Amino acid sequence: MDIAVILAAGMGTRMQSKLIKVLHPILGKPMVQWSIDTAAEAGFRSLVVVGNQEDKVRTALSDANVSFARQSIPKGTGHAVQCALQELKNLNAKRVLVFFGDTPLFRPETLQKLKGFHLEHRFDVTFVTATVEDAGSYGRLIRDEQGRAKKIVEASNATLEELAVCEINTGAAMFEMAWLEKHLPNFLTHPPKDEVYLTDALELAAQEGKAGAMILEDATEADGVNNRIDLAKATRILQNRIVKQHMLNGVSFADPSSVTVEPSVVISQDSWIDRGVVLKGTTHVATNVSIGAYSVLEDTVVDESVKIDSHSNLKGAKVGYASSVGPFARLREGSHLESNTKVGNFVEMKKTTLGKGAKASHLSYLGDAKVGQNANIGAGTITCNYDGYNKHMTVIDDGAFIGSNTALVAPVHIEEGAVVGAGSVITQNVPSNSISITRAPQEIFEQAAVRFRGKAKQIKQTKAKDN
Ligand code: UD1
Ligand code: CA
Repeated sequence: MDIAVILAAGMGTRMQSKLIKVLHPILGKPMVQWSIDTAAEAGFRSLVVVGNQEDKVRTALSDANVSFARQSIPKGTGHAVQCALQELKNLNAKRVLVFFGDTPLFRPETLQKLKGFHLEHRFDVTFVTATVEDAGSYGRLIRDEQGRAKKIVEASNATLEELAVCEINTGAAMFEMAWLEKHLPNFLTHPPKDEVYLTDALELAAQEGKAGAMILEDATEADGVNNRIDLAKATRILQNRIVKQHMLNGVSFADPSSVTVEPSVVISQDSWIDRGVVLKGTTHVATNVSIGAYSVLEDTVVDESVKIDSHSNLKGAKVGYASSVGPFARLREGSHLESNTKVGNFVEMKKTTLGKGAKASHLSYLGDAKVGQNANIGAGTITCNYDGYNKHMTVIDDGAFIGSNTALVAPVHIEEGAVVGAGSVITQNVPSNSISITRAPQEIFEQAAVRFRGKAKQIKQTKAKDN
């Protein structure tokens, strides 16, 4: 089996964070998970080397189907792989890919190419390199007169001539397990920090003609994340890749650079995504849907031909065929809209089902409710679902009509075809096809407005004199 050893023991102090670097999220996924997923797509099972905040890393990856090895004190990249050797044996590894938990930009195709290159040349050790303008503190790949990879020199140990080399070690490398088992335990430590360098492998294997270096076509793949500026840059690159793929699949974006679309989101063709939209988690968007500007959808399922207008916020919701939502609608956990429903501006819903063709067009709160088909919920309707101790259900049957500014005090049941007059406070069940009103009767005082204005004027004049 081919195993990817992912180094994730370092703290990453330049992040200026209490949280270990590899757990900082990128598009909803911990950074190290990007490395694991890339390896998995390329056909490698991951073995993650943990040290700093070990428990947090293990917990964050508990669903990831990975193995772990522990490096209690970080003593270099070579030492990290030494710490993984026993577990590699347990996993019966034949070939070993090593790469870092802070290089989320590697593509699966690149790892596959590395393996192809490594096998084709029958190397024991193959490093991935990149040609860059500023080699900075990277390790330099030194080649011999014939252009064969000879050794990697860390910047801190390099001569001026070596420092001028622009081919750098990206950190990703492939090894034959038998070679690692034989040689890695004997690697020497290097001053000043007495670290074991994995990069020493190249020179050792090159002496037997069994080492190589594969140059990246796209050098940005090797860009590691060291601080929060790098984090934002990497996020942007990964986001561009995701949105580009959606566009190639037939999804339109008004402004691709303004959206957030997490990798787990599914969008079908002929859907339209406006500026500033955020799509997260397990959100599924069917075909022919339009999502208005600055709407946020998380773990939400949207059926065909739905229109979500701008500034809507949906979380854990389901929106049925040809329904319309927003602008400024809020659908919380357990909101379920059947087909052809309408939820308008400033409507909040939670744990509520709207039957086919039902409408709540303006300014309402519907919580713990079941609304039947073609029912109409007037503006300002509130389900009073909480009595300070417990939550209670409101049931509104098919075809019921709830007048504006009604308070439905749960538990309460409005039966089929019933009408509730505007301004009512409903505390008792409303029978089928009946009308309920709790409004205070209107009183009319003829000419009272004239008397009222006269009095008001007098008061104003007296006040003016006193001043
Ligand atoms: C390493 C390479 C260098 C290469 C560069 C690319 C070595 C000796 N040097 O240098 O040639 O150009 O990466 O970015 O390999 N880690 C552990 N345990 C350790 C040490 C490191 O888990 O004991 C992890 C770190 O958390 C990090 C990664 O390995 O994710 C790389 O370590 P780092 O110390 O940044 O290596 P560099 O000195 O940058
Ligand atoms: Ca580094």
